[in-house]
Amino acid sequence: MNLAARVNAMKGERGIPLEEGQATSSAAPMRAFVEDFSAPAPYLAAPGANSVAPEATVTWVPVASPSPDSPMDPSRLASRAPTQTVVMETHDALSKLKEEAVEQLFERMGTRLNDPNLDETALRNLVQQELNSIIEGGRLPLTARERQRLIREVHDDVLGLGPLEALLSDKSVTEIMVNGPDKVYVERSGKLTLTPVRFKDEPHLRRVIERIVTRVGRRIDESSPLVDARLEDGSRVNAIIPPLAVSGSTLTIRKFSKEALRVSDLIKMQSLSPEMAELLEACVVGRLNIIVSGGTGTGKTTLLNVLSGFIPDKERIVSIEDAVELQLQQDHVVRLESRPANVEGRGEVTIRDLVKNSLRMRPDRIIVGECRGAEALDMLQAMNTGHDGSLSTIHANSSRDAMARLETLVLMAGMDLPLRAIREQVASAVDVIVQLTRLRDGTRRVTALTEVVGMEGQTLTLQDIYAFDFAAGVSADGKFLGKVQPTGLRPLFIQKFNDLGIKLSPGIFGTSAMWEQR
Ligand SMILES: Nc1ncnc2c1ncn2[C@@H]1O[C@H](COP(=O)(O)OP(=O)(O)OP(=O)(O)O)[C@@H](O)[C@H]1O
Ligand SMILES: [Mg+2]
Repeated sequence: MNLAARVNAMKGERGIPLEEGQATSSAAPMRAFVEDFSAPAPYLAAPGANSVAPEATVTWVPVASPSPDSPMDPSRLASRAPTQTVVMETHDALSKLKEEAVEQLFERMGTRLNDPNLDETALRNLVQQELNSIIEGGRLPLTARERQRLIREVHDDVLGLGPLEALLSDKSVTEIMVNGPDKVYVERSGKLTLTPVRFKDEPHLRRVIERIVTRVGRRIDESSPLVDARLEDGSRVNAIIPPLAVSGSTLTIRKFSKEALRVSDLIKMQSLSPEMAELLEACVVGRLNIIVSGGTGTGKTTLLNVLSGFIPDKERIVSIEDAVELQLQQDHVVRLESRPANVEGRGEVTIRDLVKNSLRMRPDRIIVGECRGAEALDMLQAMNTGHDGSLSTIHANSSRDAMARLETLVLMAGMDLPLRAIREQVASAVDVIVQLTRLRDGTRRVTALTEVVGMEGQTLTLQDIYAFDFAAGVSADGKFLGKVQPTGLRPLFIQKFNDLGIKLSPGIFGTSAMWEQR
């Protein structure tokens, strides 16, 4: 019986509603890596770009085994990691033709390209028509394949995201970073690589950025030179242009994965151990307030999503985010998204406004996607006043830093509270901090699970219940050999679990002998 079901059997004490059926986590399909050689069709490189052979991409598919208790052999994972860089082919003659075709198309289409009365299909048809007549008119000696490629790339440039299209459809790419027209980096399997993809020049890159931004109803120009937005498919985009971006227009895209990582995936990737996953599920079901802490891109939102999956189905969840990223599976969910000011500088709705508003929405749980400002005060107050079981993330490099950062964020609320009062509020609001780290080998791991014990004099007392064994060192090929392990300390929140009838597997906290050895 899984944890949620066990608690269910104890007949909903302390406001935990009864739950029918199994928790989603145990029913989650298991996955394994398979190689997918259906790499995106090659893209025409800018003249002078290097030619690199097509590569294998990696996708997830559901399979029947293995169980979370026997996580996948990490060496298997490593052996299947992609090794080559971006898919490129060089066809200088064709790319010249493409540039000319694009130019002619812009001339012929004129303002119709930005006509709001034309929907996407009508626009596509129109572009197709004009493009056909340009190619026919030029009597170009193209093979059917070349012609098809030319059409697709002109489409990508005029209607799509140009050279980025190939990277966007490459499943092994998780993040795209464009630092000016000549430098496009991607992240694959946690590692950054410089790709041979190039934009023709700065105006070409600007056109693509403008296209992204106008598609989502925003604008970017000298008066508002930075935009944070979301693509139609949920991918997160940040664009910043000169003069703020000194080295040229800069674009960062965090690709949205339709298949969010599940707890079993995190166990397979050794980000979590099965025991820690069980403990985290107990912490969520037991309504502890949890902060996921980590540096940028360490997997905070992904873990928050996994944790939110442990919330029993019948609870009312209000999620609050800057740009919706969480993929909550429960039925009873209200998703709120903050809004930036409009061009006249009006209409801004902050995360803080939404947190305050959520308190009037009778939430059983409040999930704040990321705590990065004055909303910290309202969130802590909510955690302290009956909205226990709330979850959030914070940017910090260790559990202790996370607490210090929370204090700083509360100070930003400008309430002039004495530091001791703030610290006491943090101490009584937060129960558990889960620390994530992206290690040098590219893996993202939970490196600590820390309990907030309380105050001792002026000091906040924390104790690690799980910690990553860095002492185990690194293998010859640079992989970390350690795991996240129990420290042997028993958390105080175990008392709450006992009251709620939450039972954990024996040995989940290790033994005191282990602790003494350390
Ligand atoms: N445990 C993991 N193992 C491997 N990849 C992961 C893991 N967790 C997340 N990722 C991937 O890492 C990328 C960043 O994840 P995520 O958005 O959760 O990070 P974040 O810490 O919330 O980032 P930010 O600081 O920008 O908000 C995503 O592409 C995600 O799929
Ligand atoms: Mg995030």
